[in-house]
Amino acid sequence: MSSAPVPGISARDPRGLAADAPLLDGWLRFTGGLERGEIAPFSVPGHKHRTDLVGDVIRGDVPLYAGLAPVKDTDAVLADAEARAAAAWGADWARLSVGGSTHANQASILALGRPGQPVVVSRTLHRSVLLGIVLAGLRPVWVRPEVDPVTGLPGAVPVAAVERALAAHPDACGVLVGDPSYVGTMSDVEGLARAAHAAGVPLVVDAAWAAYLGFSPRVPGHALQRGADALITSAHKALPSWTQAALVVARTTRDGGLLDPDRLDRAFEATHTTSPSGAILASVDAARALLQRDGEALVGRLVDLVAAARARLAAVDGLAVLTDSSALVVDPTKLVLLPAGTGAHGHAIERDLLATGIPLEMADRDILVPMVTMADDAASVDRLVGQLIAAVERHRGTPRRVEPSPAWTVDAETALDPRTAFFAAHETVDADAAVGRVCAELIAPYPPGVPALAPGEVVTAGTLEALRAVRADGGRIAYAADPTLATLQVVVG
Ligand SMILES: Cc1ncc(COP(=O)(O)O)c(C=O)c1O
Repeated sequence: MSSAPVPGISARDPRGLAADAPLLDGWLRFTGGLERGEIAPFSVPGHKHRTDLVGDVIRGDVPLYAGLAPVKDTDAVLADAEARAAAAWGADWARLSVGGSTHANQASILALGRPGQPVVVSRTLHRSVLLGIVLAGLRPVWVRPEVDPVTGLPGAVPVAAVERALAAHPDACGVLVGDPSYVGTMSDVEGLARAAHAAGVPLVVDAAWAAYLGFSPRVPGHALQRGADALITSAHKALPSWTQAALVVARTTRDGGLLDPDRLDRAFEATHTTSPSGAILASVDAARALLQRDGEALVGRLVDLVAAARARLAAVDGLAVLTDSSALVVDPTKLVLLPAGTGAHGHAIERDLLATGIPLEMADRDILVPMVTMADDAASVDRLVGQLIAAVERHRGTPRRVEPSPAWTVDAETALDPRTAFFAAHETVDADAAVGRVCAELIAPYPPGVPALAPGEVVTAGTLEALRAVRADGGRIAYAADPTLATLQVVVG
């Protein structure tokens, strides 16, 4: 990092994060140089930072190479930023990604084992994990979180189930779980790590939604602090970072761990673009510096905001707010609402909020997930809560029972390993005729993006019916070749 002062930098970096964030420093220098007319690049990107051709849409876009630093210096600057990320998470290996947790998950999975090896995986994981398993050619051994009968939501992945799976598959190469889950429910990661390590394999945790864990005593520790070997997280989901920003951190054999840092690097590079956006990476670097400097205060404030919102919403007759219970441990920064007891339909509430300019992260009939982050304040949360309450009252009806989404209850029978099914010859058949056949495609209600059907799984009448019910209710069925579900793609033979 150059130590020369940059004109105007402090106004564009109000917290002075650049002093501890080399990629952010590079972004500020480059964009400052452009503004002052000092830089006229003959390198990509082709927009050359001119906004008179396609307009403001390219504003802020700076490449990593030849943007944040001269090409020949860039690797050292990136390595500096990644070393700082590793230190922030108490890891010895870290990489910043422009490919979301999708890329970070897939890179981690590619680093785990050899094609054909079993891997113990929670079946309620995100589609990116399933496709990582396809890429790596691993054979999934499914474990399932318990579904809480009161809320219909997934709880912890039982340690005993992981122990049983590992005992039944002594050649397994690792354990993969999501923690916290999409709805903020948490597992006993310490117990899962003990189970994995007793079998001599690493525990990899997809913490896509919870990059702030471990940065305040008001929230649980992050997965590495709780014993995991690798942690994947989307900086863009929970932190003030650009869309697609993510990182993966790991404790490797260099530090007495079980993951090979060379394999991790190779796997990361194999699946990352060769032209990463410097703006995205600088925003991960900045968010990491922010967490280290001000995380305790910012995360503490977030917990308070969510606690106040939960209290106001829980006072609404019939509206349940997800909190810790005898069955569930819930991330204190997560706001999840269950409107079944009010009779209001989640989609109707969502539509009303959209009409007032408040898009939600997720809404299906029985679950609403507004994303509250450290970028919110009392005024923004107050507006959200006021509109939520008004929408619930407008749509109040007869209370109903919660029907768990097929995303959480999926109990698939795997007939072929996902990679074999992915590459197998397939045919498109009438969906009813597909029952009993082996699925060739991945179909997921989205959000949360948990596959209800995956390549290699037997299509059952129950799964098809559950998917059709989601669609009939206005939900989005993602990735299906035929999203109407009139036909399905199945493996030939
Ligand atoms: C649990 C989980 N893991 C991974 C991902 C992928 O994250 P990204 O969208 O950053 O690629 C998601 C996305 O929603 C997710 O819910």
